[in-house]
Amino acid sequence: MTELIYEKKSVNDTDNLPAFHVTGGKGWINDPNGLIYYKGEYHVFFQYHPYGIVWGPMHWGHVVSKDLTNWKYLPVALTPGGAGDKDGCFSGTAITAFGKLFLMYTGFEENGGGEAVRQVQCLAESDDGVNFKKHGVVIGSNDLPEGFMFCDFRDPHLFCHDGRFYCIVAAKRAGGKGRLLTYRSDDLFNWTFLSDTLGFDSNGTMFECPNYIEKLGLLAVSDQLPPPDPEGCLNVHSSRYFLGKMDYETGKFSVSGEGILDYGFDFYAPQAFAECPENVVIGWLNMWDRNVPSAKYGFAGMLTVPRKISVENGKVCQTPIVNSKAVFSASVSDKLTDNAIIGVIEIETAGLEALELKLRVGGKNFTSVKLVNGFWTFDRSRSGEKIVGAEKDEMSLAGIRKMPWSKTGDTKITIVLDKYSVEFFEGGNAMSSTIYPAEGADGIELTVKADKCVYTRYEISK
Ligand code: FRU
Repeated sequence: MTELIYEKKSVNDTDNLPAFHVTGGKGWINDPNGLIYYKGEYHVFFQYHPYGIVWGPMHWGHVVSKDLTNWKYLPVALTPGGAGDKDGCFSGTAITAFGKLFLMYTGFEENGGGEAVRQVQCLAESDDGVNFKKHGVVIGSNDLPEGFMFCDFRDPHLFCHDGRFYCIVAAKRAGGKGRLLTYRSDDLFNWTFLSDTLGFDSNGTMFECPNYIEKLGLLAVSDQLPPPDPEGCLNVHSSRYFLGKMDYETGKFSVSGEGILDYGFDFYAPQAFAECPENVVIGWLNMWDRNVPSAKYGFAGMLTVPRKISVENGKVCQTPIVNSKAVFSASVSDKLTDNAIIGVIEIETAGLEALELKLRVGGKNFTSVKLVNGFWTFDRSRSGEKIVGAEKDEMSLAGIRKMPWSKTGDTKITIVLDKYSVEFFEGGNAMSSTIYPAEGADGIELTVKADKCVYTRYEISK
């Protein structure tokens, strides 16, 4: 059993880590993995490098929660070094079957890199949800249809429908772009290829982390290096969704709608809890190809707070889930000032005409969310520590992201604020970003023009 480098005890930890967002402590984390509601607890695994604050040989870290806010660290669930996963246990999903908890993940073998890399789908099982026994490769290179490459074949999404098991895996055509592939099995060990799930290419170079929420007919997928879209995603990698219908005979998914899941700088590889009464997703609250000012803060990477996700009138709606209690509330006619670094802020308005909310104000620094021409504009250009990405478009260089304003009747904004992140929600849309302000910058300034405005601040509950 790998010894944990760091154990987070409570939201009152006075160290430099986020107060209530899951991190790897003194390690690197990326994608959430294997989300499952199992024996009354929410289990979240995540891509984890325990021996450095940069990406490295991927382990599966593991946290568990009863309320989706307070998380307890469990021992590392998967460590690379077995059959097919010599150099890493990449992303995957969880399911219960035959009285056990199964994880399906990508085994990674580097073999000198490039096209010699081998990615295969592996299975592990557990009786207690804590200790896992590996079974090795169950979908290997030979199970790829013709014309696909074994170096880019990863992130299996395992699910069950009508007593049969299905798996959607991201893959890449030789000389081409990303596709998704559907497989079917009756025992989780023997798999048959069914079809090219979507039948069309990724926008960018490769799909990653497919996640199908059957109850919503929603297929989430991350897309690497898509062309920048000023109306949608300007991040170097995007988190998209397709709405539609799965044909379980053919394994094909027919698309009736699509969009992006988050308008912020830092959101990738979202995944929904399997076997959960509610539809709840968590994403990686970071982005590839950016500096993470990690050395200074002692951690690299965190997960978003869980979000309730639904589809209403053909539109994806997300609202944050944070266990919290109101500590301050006031009516605002024009301006309000407050102080907080950690918490949830709700602003409810009627007849909204103009609004600017400055967070983490201190000295010359602040982070702002402002209503500009029918869009919420998030500006982190003066937040503090500089975050430089691979994006070269004007808005990214200016530290700005935009999200449409719902404009429908009353406007209710919810902001989840932690030491290094702002997750902004309005009208079912979400915009999530990291920020690295100076420690003392705790001012909040709200300027509003509306018929009515109520500001409420909540503290995170233990
Ligand atoms: C997505 C991803 C996955 C892969 C994992 C490796 O962020 O690139 O495709 O399994 O990260 O850590």
